[in-house]
Amino acid sequence: MPKPIALVTGASSGIGRATAQGLARAGFAVIAAARRLDRLQELAEQNPGVTPRQVDLSDVDQVENFCAEIIGYDEPVGVLVNNAGYSWRGVVEAAPMAPLLRMYQVNVFALLRLTQAVLPGMRARRQGRIVNLSSIVGRFTFPGSGPYASTKHAVEAVSDAMRHELLPFGIRVITIRPGPIATEFNDTANEFSAEAAANTPPEYQPVLAAAGAAFGKMFGQIRIPGPEVVAEVIVEAITSDNPKAAYAVGPFSDELLPLRAKLDDDDWLEGMNQRFGLAGLKV
Ligand SMILES: NC(=O)c1ccc[n+]([C@@H]2O[C@H](COP(=O)([O-])OP(=O)(O)OC[C@H]3O[C@@H](n4cnc5c(N)ncnc54)[C@H](OP(=O)(O)O)[C@@H]3O)[C@@H](O)[C@H]2O)c1
Repeated sequence: MPKPIALVTGASSGIGRATAQGLARAGFAVIAAARRLDRLQELAEQNPGVTPRQVDLSDVDQVENFCAEIIGYDEPVGVLVNNAGYSWRGVVEAAPMAPLLRMYQVNVFALLRLTQAVLPGMRARRQGRIVNLSSIVGRFTFPGSGPYASTKHAVEAVSDAMRHELLPFGIRVITIRPGPIATEFNDTANEFSAEAAANTPPEYQPVLAAAGAAFGKMFGQIRIPGPEVVAEVIVEAITSDNPKAAYAVGPFSDELLPLRAKLDDDDWLEGMNQRFGLAGLKV
């Protein structure tokens, strides 16, 4: 029997890299995709069974070429881990369209196109696993995370729909909801902060100061784990006979996801506004 093919996007770093390693160790033939080919080659040298594939998922033509390649594989992709993604951080009013469109292309549209490319092969075999990286902010939103969180809410929505549509074919769709994880994610998000700050009207200053202080306090109280904790959950979801629909992992996920599910919108707003020092704030 040939080893099942697992395609992992965003495999040059963080959660994707650790997942590619975990799947290679579990016996999958891993296609590791990202832009930084040198990183992927190093990963392949260190992990037999990993094949690098350079692709820029923000480039529609490159995504289409990659999809055509996937459809033409002799052996269909049995596992797809839609992991590549990043965050543009800033208030909604300050988010220019070009970076938003690019983030949606990587976080949402590339995920959709790659999923469409692997599904005919999975349907033909009546089996397959699709793992979509959401976030705790796929189920709620923090101040300053609206644009990014909206991409993860979109990932949650298509995952929910596909779970219904694909279970009759034996295909399982799994969402992963990490809290903060120590990867390059934060550095990448910070790169965009300057653009957001330059675009943000100064009147937001008291709002940002209050939220920033609250975030500082929240993050000061936790230990942020490395990407291996998420990779372990992903490999478990892929290799389990009966995976859950969604997995929460990492700081705040235990507390905030159940709290959001329990509270109505007004109670959530009031509670989080208190937490962020925004209750009663008038600018
Ligand atoms: N870390 C967290 O706190 C956290 C929390 C919740 C959810 N997540 C989600 O987890 C996933 C992985 O994030 P991470 O924490 O592992 O971050 P990371 O270390 O920054 O890794 C992101 C990966 O995405 C790839 N990528 C970014 N833009 C790309 C593009 N245009 N084309 C192809 N690949 C691209 C990067 O590769 P190249 O730069 O080489 O292209 C990299 O391999 C993301 O979807 C993120 O939203 C992360």
